[in-house]
Amino acid sequence: MKIRTRIVHSCLIVAFGVGMTAATGAQAAELEVLHWWTAGGEAKSAAELKKMLESKGHKWKDFAVAGGGGENAMTVLKSRVVSGNPPAAAQIKGPSIGEWGAEGVLSNLDEVAKAGGWDGLLPPVVSKVMKHGGHYVAVPVNVHRVNWMWANPEVFKKAGVEIPRTWDEFPAATEKIQKAGFVPVAHGGQPWQDFTVFESIALGVGGADFYRKALVELDQPTLKGPTMEKVFTTFATVRKYVDKDSANRVWNQATGMIINGKAAMQFMGDWAKGEFTSAGKVPGKDYVCVAAPGTAEAFTFNIDSLVMFEQSSGDVRKGQQDLANAVMSPAFQEVFNLNKGSIPARMNMNLDKFDDCAKLSARDFEAASKRGSLVPSIAHQMAVSAATAGAMQDVVTQFFNTPAMKPKEAADKLARAALTK
Ligand code: BGC
Repeated sequence: MKIRTRIVHSCLIVAFGVGMTAATGAQAAELEVLHWWTAGGEAKSAAELKKMLESKGHKWKDFAVAGGGGENAMTVLKSRVVSGNPPAAAQIKGPSIGEWGAEGVLSNLDEVAKAGGWDGLLPPVVSKVMKHGGHYVAVPVNVHRVNWMWANPEVFKKAGVEIPRTWDEFPAATEKIQKAGFVPVAHGGQPWQDFTVFESIALGVGGADFYRKALVELDQPTLKGPTMEKVFTTFATVRKYVDKDSANRVWNQATGMIINGKAAMQFMGDWAKGEFTSAGKVPGKDYVCVAAPGTAEAFTFNIDSLVMFEQSSGDVRKGQQDLANAVMSPAFQEVFNLNKGSIPARMNMNLDKFDDCAKLSARDFEAASKRGSLVPSIAHQMAVSAATAGAMQDVVTQFFNTPAMKPKEAADKLARAALTK
């Protein structure tokens, strides 16, 4: 992160402030919350978070930074922390939680976690991510599944093809869809979206063990090997079936192409379901959710979580605890995830109000966990450090935008990028 020195300096200023102004008796506080939930379904979920905070008597100060995948938000966050003015809470995920924890700027949530019994409520795969050095420093709002394919059944029907279940079935199906006048794959040409599609292909072509070895453990021979070459070859096939206007298209516009029947399928995490839901579309009828080809038995997880930054005001600190507490409540986990498209992070929740896609996700999460095929999403900052993931994402995007690049060359470059610290 290379911001340690400046952060330590700004922390000293904050700490000095604590001594001078330590608040007594908590009152309503204004909490600034950084997030990137700005698309239709996302904004509805963020509104629920705001509502819940305000029901505790606090004030929500919105710090929304648009940009799917959160890269813009993370850039803005860094400059705010470096200047000694961090927000009270921020949407931060995966190994980045530990990176911020190591900077010594996060609040310890152990007390709230202990009182709320979080260890018993969260699956270990989730609670592990929420801790730094054995202490809770983040609270999870959900579990997203990334390896989904969102399909418009009407388009498939009109083209006279079945939804492909394997990457081998994919080219023949997409060829017919194209001939029938539809866009086979709705895609937005942005690096994080390219990387999202790429990781689902890696999982489908190579399986969970390959995915883990290559994209989590960063094993050099696996990254450079023949299976990775095949992954890039398949990625190049997908590129053939994306429309020419995809450059820079945001992800929810791509989802819109499935909703309005222009395109057949989109490879995207289940925040896409939030778009279908807010457009009033019904799963199984207007659209279908199926695992990306070849990945039905696996699950790439992406857990959204909030961290709290150390604050000098006692009222704000109390507000942070109230926020963390409320995020873990069953009522919040239900309403937030009904809008967001994800499933609750808490175990043993009643899913009666959830749709079939969410129920399938919950079943597959558990089954994959037992089978050893539950893997962290690299494109959504769950698998490796932000610096490493960023370097690898650059290679994936470069390949996608450079038809002349050979899969072998791309695999070699990916292996080199994986050495980035
Ligand atoms: C986040 C989701 C968000 C998506 C698109 C992902 O990285 O985990 O919460 O909806 O990006 O912005």
